[in-house]
Amino acid sequence: MKAVVYRGPGTVAVEDRPDPALTGPRDAIVRVTATAVCGTDLHPYRGEVPQFEEGTVLGHEFAGTVVEAGEQVPHHVGQRVFASDIIACGRCRACARGMHYHCASVGLFGSSALVGKPVDGGQAEYVRVPFADIVLHPTPDDVADEQAVFVGDILCTAYAGVEAARIRPGDVVAVVGAGPVGVLAAACARVAGASEVVLADPDPRRRNTPVGRVVEPHELSDTVRELTDGWGAHAAIEAVGSPAALRGAVQAVGPQGTVAAIGVHHADAAPFPTGTAFAKEAALRFVVGNPLAVRAPVLALIRAGLIDPTILISHRLPLSSAVEAYSLFEAREATKVVLSATDGPSAGTGR
Ligand SMILES: NC(=O)c1ccc[n+]([C@@H]2O[C@H](COP(=O)([O-])OP(=O)(O)OC[C@H]3O[C@@H](n4cnc5c(N)ncnc54)[C@H](O)[C@@H]3O)[C@@H](O)[C@H]2O)c1
Ligand SMILES: [Zn+2]
Ligand SMILES: [Zn+2]
Repeated sequence: MKAVVYRGPGTVAVEDRPDPALTGPRDAIVRVTATAVCGTDLHPYRGEVPQFEEGTVLGHEFAGTVVEAGEQVPHHVGQRVFASDIIACGRCRACARGMHYHCASVGLFGSSALVGKPVDGGQAEYVRVPFADIVLHPTPDDVADEQAVFVGDILCTAYAGVEAARIRPGDVVAVVGAGPVGVLAAACARVAGASEVVLADPDPRRRNTPVGRVVEPHELSDTVRELTDGWGAHAAIEAVGSPAALRGAVQAVGPQGTVAAIGVHHADAAPFPTGTAFAKEAALRFVVGNPLAVRAPVLALIRAGLIDPTILISHRLPLSSAVEAYSLFEAREATKVVLSATDGPSAGTGR
């Protein structure tokens, strides 16, 4: 089969890999029809994650069809499914509490050994899904594969950010970063009742979003203060994953404002003004999106027509164009790239 493989900073390649096989009764093999490139894939691509291993099959956002299922997997062959990016056992104490990211057997597709043991990713024609009875979810007939891909990660992440930011009806909300994750967070904030959402992004190509207005990062604090008679944002969502972005979010909130950081952070010291945060009695929460916990209500938002994440898709390309996809997304010439891997069955497998 063809798969998108990490070959070091700035380099991915489409390579031939052996087709995956079942390794246990809870595994399934999915033939991927749609898979997306995420901002999280860009962190190693930009060389920010030195321990990320060359040779990793990338990708944690994918949907497709079950082609083989272990005996404990309730999904039949031919069932349309999408995966949670987070892999969890569904049976331990952490899973029982809905804290799947803290499962003893946690994993994250296509992310080397950053989260649990490495599991090959879904930017491929086929993918082995561990704990498929938990990790896979049937795709409803009225939901397209390319919509389901978003439920497997960033729409659930955005939703979790809004929950963590404790947004209430009428709130003015600041969103730092107008990439796909920031824009979906803004859309979720609207659905949760925010009266105004102001996004900040330094890249002019990210200024045209269908949700909320986008300002320069240095304008964010003043803009939300103008909208709130000087109070500041009632809540902020940081959707970049950098010290500067976190500072911007802390500066934007008003008294007792909550900052939900859904960008991925790596710093080992507090990269924001703790004095300002203390004076405001600000709350700061880091949030890993958990599709396993929230995908049902998130699917309902799509099916009700309240959010359509596909408005973010700027490029639909074949899997064989993955090199171009990474380069377009990294350069922010693309907003969201969906790759399709439906060129037919992989040779020699009989599938
Ligand atoms: N917590 C989770 O579970 C989870 C899930 C998915 C993605 N993420 C993270 O979310 C972040 C965003 O992902 P994305 O797919 O939208 O990526 P992206 O790279 O397309 O978007 C990031 C945006 O932030 C902007 N930006 C950079 N510096 C900024 C600053 N100082 N202030 C304001 N904006 C700034 C960039 O111009 C870009 O538009 C990444 O860190 C990604 O790893 C986290
Ligand atoms: Zn992702
Ligand atoms: Zn578990």
